[in-house]
Amino acid sequence: MEVLAAQLRDARKHTRRLTDDLSNEQLMGPMLPIVNPVLWEIGHVGWFHEYWTLRHAHGQAPILDRADRLWNSSTVAHTTRWDLDLPDRNGVFGYMTDVLGRQLDRLDGGIDGPARYFYELSIRHEDMHVEALAYTRQTLGYARPEHRGSAAAQGAGAWSGDVDVPGGRWQLGSTPADGFVFDNEKWGHEVAIAPFRIAKAPVTNDEFAAFVDVDGYRTQEFWSAAGWAWRERAAAERPAYWLERDGGRWTWRRYEKVEPLAPHAPVMFVNWYEAEAWCRWAKRRLPTEAEWEAAAIGEPVAGGLALADGKRRWPWGEAEPDAALANLDFASDEPYDVAALAAGDSAFGCRQMIGNVWEWTASDFVPFAGFSADPYEDYSQPWFGTRKVLRGGSWATSARIARPGYRNFFTPDRNDVIAGFRTCAL
Ligand SMILES: [Fe+2]
Repeated sequence: MEVLAAQLRDARKHTRRLTDDLSNEQLMGPMLPIVNPVLWEIGHVGWFHEYWTLRHAHGQAPILDRADRLWNSSTVAHTTRWDLDLPDRNGVFGYMTDVLGRQLDRLDGGIDGPARYFYELSIRHEDMHVEALAYTRQTLGYARPEHRGSAAAQGAGAWSGDVDVPGGRWQLGSTPADGFVFDNEKWGHEVAIAPFRIAKAPVTNDEFAAFVDVDGYRTQEFWSAAGWAWRERAAAERPAYWLERDGGRWTWRRYEKVEPLAPHAPVMFVNWYEAEAWCRWAKRRLPTEAEWEAAAIGEPVAGGLALADGKRRWPWGEAEPDAALANLDFASDEPYDVAALAAGDSAFGCRQMIGNVWEWTASDFVPFAGFSADPYEDYSQPWFGTRKVLRGGSWATSARIARPGYRNFFTPDRNDVIAGFRTCAL
């Protein structure tokens, strides 16, 4: 119970750090399809905790009469979220604190296994919104959040080249031994993987700039039909926040400021179409999610000619993530250079598979055979078939979320999320 209480407090600390300094105007912000009003979003986080733990698991009555009408994301249409009779900031923060206090009281008294599931769910739900708040601040050009992390691993440089991963049978998906998992990870099932070569690190800003510099965004042959349609619609000439070459280096808008791009950090804020176009230009391809998983947590049999049975818990082994292994949980509030964090390498020598930036895969977000929705029915099911899978987590992702088996998913046009990509040889 103490672990859950500590996790509740930890997630809330991040939520508050990302929102406390915003003005009332910023808490509402402009109506955009890719963001929520921050004031709505944090109230929704509180509501989700209340709905699944206090009400669903413990049978308590609602705290606020109108909470479902305000904050149930399944029923409150996105475009209406700017026009609701939300409580003011003190009201919303007060409601969240009230819910948290009641959760901590219940945990103090002890809870059963079924209730525990809903605490784990609602903690991870807050984790996801914490990451969304981080990239919302980037989207809206709000100030860089106050930050406690260090840039100790900065300046590590480039890490180019491929590694060989042998083929074989792979158990794609999670198992009950993995602890809390989401419905779309169920369950591990065998897939065949052919031998492949995959990059030791994600594509860097420098490597992506080479594509921009040869007019890649104006060369239709590098783009799929859907990718080109997006590019035309968005009038994209370069990644979303890139500004111009200044003295040989690209600058970009980071939060509210213009800064030089770190040449050897992974490119981020690129969408799936941009990743696909870069691959076509570079004569590379994205890994499938099975390949990504095998490169991250697979091991070779003796002699190295096939994938061994079984998988590691994390790329580096069994130890829980820490700052020397992965850039997670705002260890830094930006990605490290791709050569950093050697201690976190996978068995095959892939670096930063966990943390730093999410990695787009070639795979469509589809259910595994035998899928059935968990109690939060709208988590996966409505989105199957229209999203691409991302793996690995970013610097803004909680280690609770960024397990190797976790399948993140976004539409291929989303360039506002903290995503880059790693490639395979053709
Ligand atoms: Fe949500």
